[in-house]
Amino acid sequence: MEMSYDDRPGQIWYDGELVPWKEANAHILSHALHYASCVFEGERAYDGRIFKLRQHTERLFEGAESMDMEMPYTVEEVDAACNLVVQTQGIKDGYVRPIVWRGSEMMGVSAQTAQIHVAVAAWEWPDYFADRMTGIRMKWAKWRRPDPATIPCKTKAGGLYMICTLSKHDAEKEGFADALMLDYRGYIAEATGANIFMLLEDGKLHTPEPDCFLDGITKRTVMALAKARGYDIVQRHIKPEELAGAKEVFLTGTAVEVTPVREIGEYSFTPGAVTRTLMEDYDAEVRREVPATLNAA
Ligand SMILES: Cc1ncc(COP(=O)(O)O)c(C=O)c1O
Repeated sequence: MEMSYDDRPGQIWYDGELVPWKEANAHILSHALHYASCVFEGERAYDGRIFKLRQHTERLFEGAESMDMEMPYTVEEVDAACNLVVQTQGIKDGYVRPIVWRGSEMMGVSAQTAQIHVAVAAWEWPDYFADRMTGIRMKWAKWRRPDPATIPCKTKAGGLYMICTLSKHDAEKEGFADALMLDYRGYIAEATGANIFMLLEDGKLHTPEPDCFLDGITKRTVMALAKARGYDIVQRHIKPEELAGAKEVFLTGTAVEVTPVREIGEYSFTPGAVTRTLMEDYDAEVRREVPATLNAA
């Protein structure tokens, strides 16, 4: 069994200082625990360097702002905290988890004076899915991504992830690796922690317009890599039945990187050359030696 996340060696950056891992606690009456007033990031370090750190930190700040939470630190300070944690933990290839949440000064829907806390933890982490070219099996999620008028849908706010956890649990119970969610209109949206691309019969890569879900940093990176390869990319609303004409399908995300898919519900695909090329290009991109200023862009 995996080592529990509340008791590991090392330190966590918590409200401005490093504290022993086991002591990085929040009170049971934290507003975030009851009302999901939290927003987080998921980052990967490769060879000890966090890929696209500045973009992740900026998204964290945008998320906090959309949750009406005023960040008590600057973007530069949060970047520095992420780097410090990776360094202190001695991580080469790993995962970094910054989180912003409301504390326990007020208990109720209103939390105007509750303190905004920030923490950053990091741990060693290998590839998410083993033996990637086999492709993963997915099922349709029964839960959908909500209307942007109902929730700040382009953030990594904790509340949005109950849809993902429910969908992922349902998939795993039936032996699938993940679930594909539709949006509130019935278009293809995303997987529970990743965006989706498909190579259709026109030879172009199609990916859903991210107008009600996360516009992934990996998705944008892969689009740039695909463009550099001369592939045509179309971002638009995609109906589920269009998967019938898909030759290759893959997911993108910080955690899953580029992961081939071989099955979604009634549709099957064969992971092929385009997926492999982008997988390899992405693997090279994340480890490319770049000056810090460029990597931040
Ligand atoms: C729901 C969801 N969609 C998409 C993504 C992919 O985003 P990114 O590539 O920025 O990691 C993630 C992971 O962060 C996610 O949790």
